Amino acid sequence: MNSNTYNIYIRSEDKTISAQSGQTLLEALVESGVLLRADCGGRGRCGKCKIQIINPGDTGTDDKLPESGVLSQAEIDAGYRLGCRVDITGDMTVDIPESSLLTPEVAQKGPTTLPDIIPVSRTSSDPYGIAVDLGTTTIALYLCDLNLGKITASISLRNPQVILGDDVMSRITAVSQNPGTLRRLQKMAVNAMEWGIDSLCRSSHINPETIGTMVIVGNSTMIHMFLGEDPTSIGVFPYEPLFKEEKTVRADTLGLRFNPSAEIRTLPLISGFLGADIVSAALAVDLEHKAKGTLLVDVGTNGEIIFLGKNGFSATSCATGPAFEGASIRHGMHAISGAIDAVQVDPETGKAVCSVIQKNPKQPKKISGLCGSGVVSTVAELFRAGLILNDGRFNTENAPDMFQYENELPEYILAQAGDTLSGKAVTFAQQDIRAIQLAKGALYAGIQMLCREKGYERPDRLLIAGAFGSYIKKEDALTIGMFPAMASDDIEIVGNAAGAGAVLSLFDDHYRKKAQELVRETEVLELALHPDFQDIFIESLAFPD
Ligand code: FES
Repeated sequence: MNSNTYNIYIRSEDKTISAQSGQTLLEALVESGVLLRADCGGRGRCGKCKIQIINPGDTGTDDKLPESGVLSQAEIDAGYRLGCRVDITGDMTVDIPESSLLTPEVAQKGPTTLPDIIPVSRTSSDPYGIAVDLGTTTIALYLCDLNLGKITASISLRNPQVILGDDVMSRITAVSQNPGTLRRLQKMAVNAMEWGIDSLCRSSHINPETIGTMVIVGNSTMIHMFLGEDPTSIGVFPYEPLFKEEKTVRADTLGLRFNPSAEIRTLPLISGFLGADIVSAALAVDLEHKAKGTLLVDVGTNGEIIFLGKNGFSATSCATGPAFEGASIRHGMHAISGAIDAVQVDPETGKAVCSVIQKNPKQPKKISGLCGSGVVSTVAELFRAGLILNDGRFNTENAPDMFQYENELPEYILAQAGDTLSGKAVTFAQQDIRAIQLAKGALYAGIQMLCREKGYERPDRLLIAGAFGSYIKKEDALTIGMFPAMASDDIEIVGNAAGAGAVLSLFDDHYRKKAQELVRETEVLELALHPDFQDIFIESLAFPD
């Protein structure tokens, strides 16, 4: 045995996995296909990776264990630890509580806006197919009946790769620093898909071997990593991907086991930061037949923007970061039970009334944090109530009781300690506002620059795709200045258009050709390098009057 390899016996599953020194217990489990909730992405905050250590071996140093506050003293005394805080330094035996395992109540990727029945035109004779939108934060899978032309079932789950980095750049950096990381990231994505396919097939009583085709879309980095291709070139100027063309491979070459001979297809990429997801979204909304002046934006950790101007398609991307998805926000979380998804702030008292997601209202969960739409709603409402100034600083004078302080910095109290799962107040901090300012500034600047380059002052019509776009209020987005000022009627939410495009490509081979044409005809503009970009970006950091 390699001296750096250890055995982890999972007693609750009667299964032994191997783990490497240098990994956390959470990483080792996820890479072995044991998927945990891990809602905070391994930051030691959510407590969802709780594991009971039965035989500890040497479970790491205490300086990495901020479990108090997340775990109770009774739990710590009983051997419970956070999987993301335990370093692998020896063999061990563990039990995984049911509540820590990934369940179907997971992050929502947003619905597609496809009709119930979709015309089918394809060459394969297999009865079922899977369409996948492989996002940086969330993976959506659609099990499709290829004879009836309908989506049989769908599921979204968190991309477990987040434990190795929130955004594509941090994952690219991880790969460039250690080439072995690519294999680990690929395995995590494959394990998550296997888990999703297994769940879909069980709930639909379908034999996974009847799934003959899988179409996968995602940003360029996700597609590279899924195929085991090195994404390093995307992270350095001129940000070129290793390949752009569509790929077709057998499932077993990627380690997918649901049907080893299934055909796995990806859609083509436009550039390093304009991936198969925006191609797929443009196909789904039929962008080529929309009115000139229509702009489609897929808001994720990267904003991908494609514009239909007088002379055809042009596209650009902007680094929005994960703030819109609730990540990198202090109490950010996914859109699952216990997440604040909307807020109303009383302008007189400054007090917030929170709407909280409850998937099972009979067993309501206490507040754990806020998801992406809750983040935008909070900023918009605090700004309307005068508790955030134009430059993004808190105005604490109007409602001093609604703020608490950490290191002398104010934090707005969204939920009091008595209403939260952790027993501590859920707050919105100054650095959270800053993260949103940077994200919305990048998005605004990208949209505005692309339109101006093509002779438009702003888009005539704006289509918003992506999980985040599916749940925000248009008025909130306009209040904080995410998009150029325009009538809310000219903005349309189009759901998970990338996922919808993957479904259409599964049903109709014609979409493959259309995807290639779109890639060929799209002019790519690297606006982040444009001399005006910085000025527009900096101007757009402030909240509009
Ligand atoms: S993933 Fe470990 S505490 Fe959240």
